[in-house]
Amino acid sequence: VLGELPRLRNDPLRLFTEAASSGEDVVRFRAAYRSVFLAVGPDAIAHVGIHNRDNYVKGVSYEALRVPIGDALLTIDGSTARERRRLLMPMFTRRALETEVPTMASAVEALFERWDELAASGAAFDLVSETNRLAFDVVGRVLMGTEVGSDMAELEALIADASGWVARRTRALVPLPPALPTPRNVAFARARRAIREFADRLIAARREAGRDDIVTRLVEARDEGGRGLDDVQVRDEVIGFLMAGHQTTGAALAWTWYLLARHRDAQERLAHASDIVLDGGRPGARKLDLMPYLGQVVEESMRLYPPGWAFTRTPLADDEVGGRAVPKGSIVIVSSYANQHSTRFWDEPERFDPERFAAGRREAIGPYDYFPFGVGPHVCIGKLMAELEAKTALAMVARRYRLELASPVPVPPTPAITLTPGAPIRVRVRRRSA
Ligand code: HEM
Repeated sequence: VLGELPRLRNDPLRLFTEAASSGEDVVRFRAAYRSVFLAVGPDAIAHVGIHNRDNYVKGVSYEALRVPIGDALLTIDGSTARERRRLLMPMFTRRALETEVPTMASAVEALFERWDELAASGAAFDLVSETNRLAFDVVGRVLMGTEVGSDMAELEALIADASGWVARRTRALVPLPPALPTPRNVAFARARRAIREFADRLIAARREAGRDDIVTRLVEARDEGGRGLDDVQVRDEVIGFLMAGHQTTGAALAWTWYLLARHRDAQERLAHASDIVLDGGRPGARKLDLMPYLGQVVEESMRLYPPGWAFTRTPLADDEVGGRAVPKGSIVIVSSYANQHSTRFWDEPERFDPERFAAGRREAIGPYDYFPFGVGPHVCIGKLMAELEAKTALAMVARRYRLELASPVPVPPTPAITLTPGAPIRVRVRRRSA
């Protein structure tokens, strides 16, 4: 009766990876009364994501997100999304974000204050709560020019609560209406109200202060017809960025440090490169470009553990993909995790090997073999911000600390909305000699 629903819910990583290694371009699963398709082959993904994109909406994985975020770029489709993206894009170009690297470095220096104490005491700590805190601090500083003070810590907790609610709802078989006063829905409604009030206060302060951060630019953005965003749209975009940029980048950093702690040779090589290039100073975007191995490590980490591990699309009309009939209303899944772990596209896919991304080899990797930031017109708008942030943090931490795992037990990934570590990653840090 349920078809593959139990495995889809309980073990999608293995189910999708096996399907992506089967040689079929599109694999069909039956999940109770719905058909679910995994698009694997390059032509199938390009068809759904690019060539026939007007026939697809974002679908089921975004329905729950729409409850806290409303209609922001993250959740909208079609021509509205195209217009919104055009309006927002200037804030996410390389030119705009390069200037934010010193801001990102300041957030890493705030982390140093905590880690220096942890290094001195030798205490083990949970890496994931640290990386989430850092990622939220960066998003807060870059978006709003605000440090994580006590009120930002409260906002981080509220955003984490809302994300948890969305994750549970996305997994639920038959989600109950959000207005039903269950304890979880009541707690979520309270969190959503607090987040909205917080965002409204921030935006009001920006309107008065004339500062130069992304929220200010959002408030001032105008399209060719001179139209801007109204107060609710600005608020929903801010909440969308906070939710999209927090646990994703936090998870990317946690997985990368986890891999580096397990591969001492890579960690030492990075520390050496960082020592030479940074030479005691802070990184800037140009300096980060001078560290190719840093980029390779980030790319290989996001191959093995892509935080945005899968996304859905739903066809508005019947379609044919990779020779298979895909009826309107079905669920089409595209999974970076599955393709990036597939033996069809990778040799020894489970092995950590940053050399896969070295110059000369990187060029041979196809756009549908590796896509941690998605494909086509909805590709992540925050990609450069996340990459610059991850590289800044990794380069600065590499030259200051040696990371060790406090437990040899491997940490499995958990596929919620983001691919998060399924258990705390306990680590210790030691200061490297100056
Ligand atoms: C390592 C960090 C990140 C990863 C792995 C990631 C991953 C992704 C992926 C896979 C998509 C495409 C989803 C789809 O096609 O349905 C996406 C879209 C998006 N991301 Fe990210 N993301 C990251 C960081 C960020 C940051 C820092 C921001 C903003 C501050 C952001 C904002 C967005 C938005 C607004 C979209 C929707 C774009 C659209 O539909 O046009 N992301 N992200």
